[in-house]
Amino acid sequence: MRVAMIGTGYVGLVSGACFADFGHQVTCIDKNAEKIELLRSGGVPIYEPGLDQLVQRNVREGRLDFATDLTEAVRAADVVFIAVGTPSRRGDGHADLSYVYAAAEEIGTVMDGFTVVVNKSTVPVGTGDEVEALIRKVRPDGDFAVVSNPEFLREGAAIDDFKRPDRVVVGTEDSRARDVMRELYRPLFLNETPIVFTSRRTSELIKYAANAFLAMKITFINEMADLCEAVGANVQEVSKGIGLDGRIGPKFLHAGPGYGGSCFPKDTIALVRTAQEADTPLQLVEATVRVNDTRKRAMADKVIGACGGDVDGKTIAVLGLTFKPNTDDMREAPSLDIIPALQAKGAKVRAYDPAGIEEAEKLLKDVEYTTGPYLALEGADALVIITEWNEFRALDLDRVKAALKAPVVVDLRNIYDPAEMHEAGIAYTSIGRP
Ligand SMILES: NC(=O)c1ccc[n+]([C@@H]2O[C@H](COP(=O)([O-])OP(=O)(O)OC[C@H]3O[C@@H](n4cnc5c(N)ncnc54)[C@H](O)[C@@H]3O)[C@@H](O)[C@H]2O)c1
Repeated sequence: MRVAMIGTGYVGLVSGACFADFGHQVTCIDKNAEKIELLRSGGVPIYEPGLDQLVQRNVREGRLDFATDLTEAVRAADVVFIAVGTPSRRGDGHADLSYVYAAAEEIGTVMDGFTVVVNKSTVPVGTGDEVEALIRKVRPDGDFAVVSNPEFLREGAAIDDFKRPDRVVVGTEDSRARDVMRELYRPLFLNETPIVFTSRRTSELIKYAANAFLAMKITFINEMADLCEAVGANVQEVSKGIGLDGRIGPKFLHAGPGYGGSCFPKDTIALVRTAQEADTPLQLVEATVRVNDTRKRAMADKVIGACGGDVDGKTIAVLGLTFKPNTDDMREAPSLDIIPALQAKGAKVRAYDPAGIEEAEKLLKDVEYTTGPYLALEGADALVIITEWNEFRALDLDRVKAALKAPVVVDLRNIYDPAEMHEAGIAYTSIGRP
């Protein structure tokens, strides 16, 4: 099949490269000429494990190429994906659909023959109808179907998630489009991946419901962690104790500094808005958004508390800036709330992240960056671990203690054993554990 992927970001590039790897002929398109130039010269604009080899192999074997203009690829395509960003709209939290609509109009202008237009971007219920109407307006005679096919990949494990998903969701009422989608995902059919065919509106809602549920699960255990701290219980053991119940499941029960990233924050807010407009408020999701916002800010107070109630003039070493490990994505990362709050109280921040520094430099002010974890610690008054990159999991504790001015460690991801830290003579604070 010939595939045109519009938007070559975290989702578009991974999906495009994976479809090419399935054997399809894929062109990834992006308005950002720098990105396309970099990809054409053999580079990859994002940090995602395994993506550079996957892209290079498929380019070499002639199944994947890149363009800034969509005309040629869309004309030739059986399937055109829209994988552009849908950020929060300033002011009201609705999903900003301007990129989706702009892409739809362009597709409508140039498409040729029966074309399946697939929304892979996360879009509110009813966006498929809008996209269909837009294309119909520019091409009253067009032969096309608009399908919803939300993406569930996780940054940091994106290739595996795409190639071995828990499920694929396809929303369409058009039988020709259903056949095209089935053919496109045929390699996954062979792996017996469940493919949920449903209506377009249901499919759009499934994506938001999934993200809202996961955000709620994280927020639930985060609140439970606060309670554990207050009553002297251990949240990790609570997670284990409830997670072994098959109805609950062990995933997304790690207490931490609050969820961030490019999806949960904007998708929960957008869902709340959709529900309010439909006069069916989702109070659980509203509470989740509120609790998570407060939590991210409260983490700075936790650090200040561990530093004896005052960070004025102190140097705080931060390990981990990205919203999670194995990505360079800084969107809505907890570090973006915690670091400015510490700075506002007079702290100097010195930070290290294995992949996020280039992005962090654009978003944080007055932070000194180092080229390795121990350099960040040298002479600092405390260490804060914000993101649980593997390389922070086995720090040499004697070296940590020797490097710090005071042996204060705040571990917002619970990656160390409190007993071991205590033995090493470190004043250790973690989340929800005695
Ligand atoms: N990042 C994730 O982990 C993830 C997971 C699942 C779903 N999603 C959803 O997928 C969508 C894309 O997310 P992302 O993280 O890949 O975004 P991104 O910002 O990384 O990439 C979007 C790309 O689209 C390009 N673009 C915008 N308008 C364009 C146009 N008209 N023509 C060509 N290119 C255009 C931008 O230049 C950018 O490179 C969003 O709706 C997001 O919610 C993201």
